[in-house]
Amino acid sequence: MSIGYLQRKAAWEILLKVSYGDFSDHALEKVLRNYQFNPLDIAFITELSFGCIRYRKFLDLWADHTSKMNHKRQPPKLRWLLHIGLYQLIKMDKIPCPAAISTTVEVAKKTDLKGLAGTVNAILRNASRKLEQEIFPKISSDKKERISYLESLPLWLVHDLYQWVGNSKGENIVKAFNKKPSIDLRINQLKTDLDKFLRVLHENEINAEIIKDLNNGITLKSNPRSIKNLPGYSEGLWTIQDRSSQWVAPLLNPKEGEKILDACAAPGSKSTHLAELANDNAEIIAVDRSEKRLKILQSNLERLNLKSVKILKADATSLIDLNPKFISYFDKILLDAPCSGIGTLSRNPDSRWSLSREKIKSLTLLQEKLLESILPFLKKDGTLVYSTCTICPDENNLLVERFIERNKDLKLVSQKQILPSLDYPGDGFYSAIISYKS
Ligand SMILES: C[S@@+](CC[C@H](N)C(=O)[O-])C[C@H]1O[C@@H](n2cnc3c(N)ncnc32)[C@H](O)[C@@H]1O
Repeated sequence: MSIGYLQRKAAWEILLKVSYGDFSDHALEKVLRNYQFNPLDIAFITELSFGCIRYRKFLDLWADHTSKMNHKRQPPKLRWLLHIGLYQLIKMDKIPCPAAISTTVEVAKKTDLKGLAGTVNAILRNASRKLEQEIFPKISSDKKERISYLESLPLWLVHDLYQWVGNSKGENIVKAFNKKPSIDLRINQLKTDLDKFLRVLHENEINAEIIKDLNNGITLKSNPRSIKNLPGYSEGLWTIQDRSSQWVAPLLNPKEGEKILDACAAPGSKSTHLAELANDNAEIIAVDRSEKRLKILQSNLERLNLKSVKILKADATSLIDLNPKFISYFDKILLDAPCSGIGTLSRNPDSRWSLSREKIKSLTLLQEKLLESILPFLKKDGTLVYSTCTICPDENNLLVERFIERNKDLKLVSQKQILPSLDYPGDGFYSAIISYKS
């Protein structure tokens, strides 16, 4: 067995799982359970498999450039293995081409792709020659089509993005979808403070910095391999949370004694943030319809030792029938709505392939229904915050505009759209503060 063979095999298995519908991070976790890799191997496997998933369209282009059979006619197992080989050749400078080819061919030889090992070898050698001679695949000269291949994003999404934000911002965003996502933490201010926790990280030789403009944010400058092994996790000193998402809970300005509804709460990064900001002394009702995700919220509450959050498994669109006592009950309501997640594409390698305009349309219907359903629970002097991790106007400002138009006694206090960018390490996020007119 050659060095590096098992790592390529594991990466290929992750691609297979994702093609059967697993999320990338779940697939990675499941596959790694079957091996005993060291942290460096895990970093390599993550980079290779997630890179292949992101660059699927680009790698298909190269597969068509170097093989006689169009990728659409390739058996899926072959297609994903070619991606493993091609990604190493084209996108990973540090791997010598012969090693990339031989280890990938070995995966074919030792699995049920045995009969196609010769094909894999021939295609990858062809790709290596073409790269050396700078013979690249031909792509249309249309700007949007080009970028959709080179940055590997569905063409409809490139078109829509450019329409939402204009050409130059659009290009920057498309590129930002392929950058390495930041790893940000939010410290639990009830248990530690920024300087103290930063010192703990530095004492453990973990390179980290305070995030400017946030009260409790720290970003890790190098990958810690296993996040849960960082100091302070089991003691509840911090929660992993992207910097853009950390903006949301403070918009509600939660205070001790207030009644707060978090209508789509699981897995709870914002419910726990709300509880910490209110000194764990508010009445926070965390609603979600997903039992599985609520279990994660429950374990986060236990780990962070927060007592003020009460979990309620329910569909927030029919909460009024279950709990009529909630009418005009809450001082503050957060609706962190289910959304297309377009702001988080760099973090979720597979999501770009499962999105569609139809899916976004059905999400906007749900978002509207959720907003209308929870509004009766807000006190007349209360504050409602609507947030998403997308940058699609139909799910954000346009939706909020329509909501306020339908409910004439409401006003938009402020809104903020954070766009993903090559110059900003966090996710794309939207938030709106809404209240009744006085
Ligand atoms: C964006 S996530 C929430 C993230 C969460 N606020 C956090 O910060 O950790 C959206 C959540 O909405 C939940 N959800 C979707 N439709 C719902 C509904 N009709 N009622 C209640 N929860 C719903 C999903 O299960 C998912 O957990």
